[in-house]
Amino acid sequence: MSYPYQLKTFEEYKEAYQKSVDDPEGFWGDIAQHFYWRQPWNKVLNWNFTEPKAEWFAGGKLNITENCIDRHLETMGEQPAIIWEPNNPEDRVRVVTYNRLHKRVCQFAQVLKNNGVKKGDRVCIYMGMVPELAYAVLGCARIGAIHSVVFGGFSAQSIANRLEDAQAQYIVTADGAYRGDKVIPLKDVVDDALIGNKTVKKIIVYTRTRLPVSMLKGRDVWWEDEMEYAETQVEKEGVVSCPAEVMDAEDPLFILYTSGSTGKPKGVVHTCGGYMVYTAYTFVNVFQYQPGQIYFCTADIGWITGHSYILYGPLSVGATSLMFEGVPTWPDAGRFWDIVDKFKVNILYTAPTAIRSLMGFGLQPFDGKDLSSLKVLGTVGEPINEEAWHWYDEHVGKKRCPIVDTWWQTETAGIMISNLAGVTPSKPTFATLPLPGVQPVLVDENGNEVEGNNVSGNLCIKAPWPGILRTTYGDHERCRLNYFSTYPNLYFTGDGALRDETGFYRITGRVDDVLNVSGHRIGTAEVENAINMHAGVVESAVVGYPHTIKGQGIYAYVIFSGGSHDLELSKKDITATVSRIIGPIAKPDKIQFVKGLPKTRSGKIMRRILRKIAEGDLQNVGDITTLLDPAVVEDIKNGRL
Ligand code: WT7
Repeated sequence: MSYPYQLKTFEEYKEAYQKSVDDPEGFWGDIAQHFYWRQPWNKVLNWNFTEPKAEWFAGGKLNITENCIDRHLETMGEQPAIIWEPNNPEDRVRVVTYNRLHKRVCQFAQVLKNNGVKKGDRVCIYMGMVPELAYAVLGCARIGAIHSVVFGGFSAQSIANRLEDAQAQYIVTADGAYRGDKVIPLKDVVDDALIGNKTVKKIIVYTRTRLPVSMLKGRDVWWEDEMEYAETQVEKEGVVSCPAEVMDAEDPLFILYTSGSTGKPKGVVHTCGGYMVYTAYTFVNVFQYQPGQIYFCTADIGWITGHSYILYGPLSVGATSLMFEGVPTWPDAGRFWDIVDKFKVNILYTAPTAIRSLMGFGLQPFDGKDLSSLKVLGTVGEPINEEAWHWYDEHVGKKRCPIVDTWWQTETAGIMISNLAGVTPSKPTFATLPLPGVQPVLVDENGNEVEGNNVSGNLCIKAPWPGILRTTYGDHERCRLNYFSTYPNLYFTGDGALRDETGFYRITGRVDDVLNVSGHRIGTAEVENAINMHAGVVESAVVGYPHTIKGQGIYAYVIFSGGSHDLELSKKDITATVSRIIGPIAKPDKIQFVKGLPKTRSGKIMRRILRKIAEGDLQNVGDITTLLDPAVVEDIKNGRL
């Protein structure tokens, strides 16, 4: 494959950017021609941000898996599509060629069909990072079923909420998953999630860990049995191995849930055509991928990064994507460097939180590891601090690999603001310039655009790009309210940013009540709801505070009436409740019991004050005269109960 749309110089970038603004339809129409469409589109773009509506490549017909797999078979069938490194480094590596991926995806697509799954049905996928997860995701896309992957660290309650919201009838899971020295009993968690569920009809269970699982007759089936049957069907009955469903460009491809400032996660919906074009374009340009290179993204497929930059983006352009089952610190903190050395990885894409946690282990983990294959490094998920940036540059990239700091969101489908590796300039801690097709603006609190350079404001986007979210599942009004109503005719990102003297952007973090903990988005309201479910909790307020590894930690102020026999134990109990309701990623790092919370006369919690106290900045809590009871602030500061 060659990539005619790969920009090679800063000049080419500027030209492409200008064209994308002057003539977005011409710009994206040209790029989309490099994909395989069953039928061309009638219109590149129809949009307005009032409904809101964004339709890309309307009338076009395609199947994203034909682009990710079939079209590579003739020339690259024996090239590795996915290289899989197991949790345990002693176990066998699996290399999945494009031919093999085709076979397995079609086979699993047939399994889905055999179990009654049809185009448009929602399939929840809850698995660890095994190749079968990729087959499950792509198998859904093959037949036009809408996948909704739930990260393996979420609780039964979180799965239950997502199943309910998506009205999912099918689940694909595994007996368990390995993550470092832990074994996660996935099927058990799914069983708990199904107590009281009325929609789920079938569960397909892959065997990974051989944990004992309960299998209900008529509902639960084994992955291996189903795959074997699908294979004999092909051989004996002459069934053609699952042809791809012809999809409209705007048919939904997947739902992915993400936290917002309200209590309930939103099901972000992406569609087939625009998503494909946008993830492929951004992958090829940001990382400057060259055919044959080994690309390693350390994310989990349960997050958008894994969807767009382990699976769809790389596969749609015939890349080799390395998929890792484990964690960066097991069996030791040199694991990433072992993997880079073992597979001669050329491009490494990870998160600032992983870098910071590895920094803590010093330089010994690099001993004897050859990292000379690396050409490009990337980061994503949260603002990267100066120290982590330089450590990554010096010790991983040996000062010869460009670092791309990629800003984007679940809602944007792909990278929005980033330098292009070795092509456009970089600047530590700056995501730098928007990708072609992306028009960022900064606005002040009154919604007025802040023009010129050396300014800051709330980050919005002026016009649609092909990867923009189409709706939030089952509730379009919620999509409008969340993203398109704060500032009329703009998509509001929820982030604050500054633009320096040269026009480079630096993302400073969320300006809404959303935390970013280890690169994962967690809504404060969601954590509060979970804490409030604990016996004896009267009320709570959650804020973020700076955390050296996680970026932000979770600080919870709790009014507790559960007796005072052992307050430290009660804090652990509350933590256990949050873990059960949401998952371990949402556990508070600190809990402080308080008598009261700082509220305005209208009953609104003044989080600004709580944030200052959580940061340890007791001197600068600011004006507290508008509080109903200013005395509570002193009590909280002094830890009085
Ligand atoms: C939020 C989106 C995009 C995939 C992973 C997270 C923050 C993301 C950066 C970056 C500063 C960043 C933003 C954004 N964020 N990348 N390079 N620099 N902040 O996806 O869970 O949808 O979270 O992550 O605050 O809004 P997500």
